[in-house]
Amino acid sequence: MENKDFFESIVNKVIQGDCLEVMKKIPNNSVDVTFADPPFNLKKKYNSYYDKHEFEEYLFWCKKWLYEMVRVTKPTGSILVHNIPKWLIYLGSYLNEIAIFRHWIAWDAMGSPLGKTLLPNHYGILYYVKSEDFKFYDIRMLHKRCRNCHYILQDYGGKKSQMHQFGPLVSDVWTDIHRIRHKKRRDEHPCQLPIHLLERLLLFSSDEGDIVLDPFMGTGTTAIAAKKLGRKFIGIDIDSKYVEITNKKLEDVQPTLINGCYVSNFLDNVITVRDKDWDKIKEAFFIPRDPLELEKREIYLLHKNGKRVKYRMTESIQSDLFSICGEDK
Ligand SMILES: C[S@@+](CC[C@H](N)C(=O)[O-])C[C@H]1O[C@@H](n2cnc3c(N)ncnc32)[C@H](O)[C@@H]1O
Repeated sequence: MENKDFFESIVNKVIQGDCLEVMKKIPNNSVDVTFADPPFNLKKKYNSYYDKHEFEEYLFWCKKWLYEMVRVTKPTGSILVHNIPKWLIYLGSYLNEIAIFRHWIAWDAMGSPLGKTLLPNHYGILYYVKSEDFKFYDIRMLHKRCRNCHYILQDYGGKKSQMHQFGPLVSDVWTDIHRIRHKKRRDEHPCQLPIHLLERLLLFSSDEGDIVLDPFMGTGTTAIAAKKLGRKFIGIDIDSKYVEITNKKLEDVQPTLINGCYVSNFLDNVITVRDKDWDKIKEAFFIPRDPLELEKREIYLLHKNGKRVKYRMTESIQSDLFSICGEDK
C-alpha cells in the first residue's frame, strides 16, 4: 500500500503495533499535532511492555520516535512530549536540534511524595513547533478559589474590575488538573492521563478537523480528547488489550460543544476555553452582574445535560440571574 493510502486508512483508528514501524509509513508533514506519553523507564507494570532498560538504550529508542514525530508533523503543527524531568532534559536537548522550543509546561499533578529526598512531584510536557508559522490559540482556565469561602485566590490588587469572567490565561505551570485518583475512573493501565489534560493541549494547538497522532495511546486518552473536541486522531499502542479498551470507550464519546464552541470539561464543569470563544460561550453561564462580585461568587453553567442547574439562590443571586437570562426567568 502506498504511504498516502496507508495514512488515510489509519485516520480515526487506534491500531496495535510498534509505533516506530507504524510511524515510518506515515508521510512527512501530514499531521497537525503529535503527542507522546511514552513509558518512563520506571519499571511500571504494563501488560506487554518491559519498562526497564539501560540508560543509553532508553534514550536511543526515544530519539528514534522523536525524530519520526517531528518528521510527520506539519510545518504549522506542534510536537508535545510528556515525561519526567530526568528524561526530558535529554529529550529536549535532542529536540533542540530538529525542532523549535516553545515551552516546558510543568504539570503539578498533585501526587503525594513521601521520603527523605525531594521526590519528583511534577511532570513536564515539552512543547515544540516546526516553523515560526505555527498554530496557537490563547486559552483560559477557571479562577482558582478558596474551597470554603469561594473567594478568588489570586490577588488582582487594584485591577479587580478588569478580571476576566471565566479566568486567567493559562501559563506554563498547570496546577489545576489532578491525576486520575479514583479507581472507578481508571482502566487497567498503570499510568492513564486525565482527558482534560489532553483537551487543554489540543485547544491551544489545533482546530476542528485537525489530525492528532499519539504513538503511545495507552487506553485512549488522546483519542477521546480529540473526538470530544471534533479533531481526528491516529493512535498506536503495542498492546492489543489497551487498543481494545480504547476502541470500546471511543464508541460512547460525544463532542463537547457550548454554543458551537468546543470546550474542555471535567465532571460537568468547564475547565478550559479558548479566549476567542468566550463571548459566545458566556451566554451559557450565570455570571454576576457586578464585575466585582466575581471575586466572591463562582460563575456556573445554567444548564447541564439539558437540565436547569439546581443552585441555592440567595435573593441577590436571583436578581442577578433574572437580569441576564431572559426566558429563564
Ligand atoms: C505511559 S503509557 C501511555 C498512557 C496514555 N497516555 C493513557 O493516558 O492511557 C505508554 C504506553 O506505550 C505503550 N508502548 C510501549 N512501547 C510501545 C511501542 N514500541 N509502540 C507503541 N506503544 C508502545 C505501552 O503499552 C503503554 O500503553
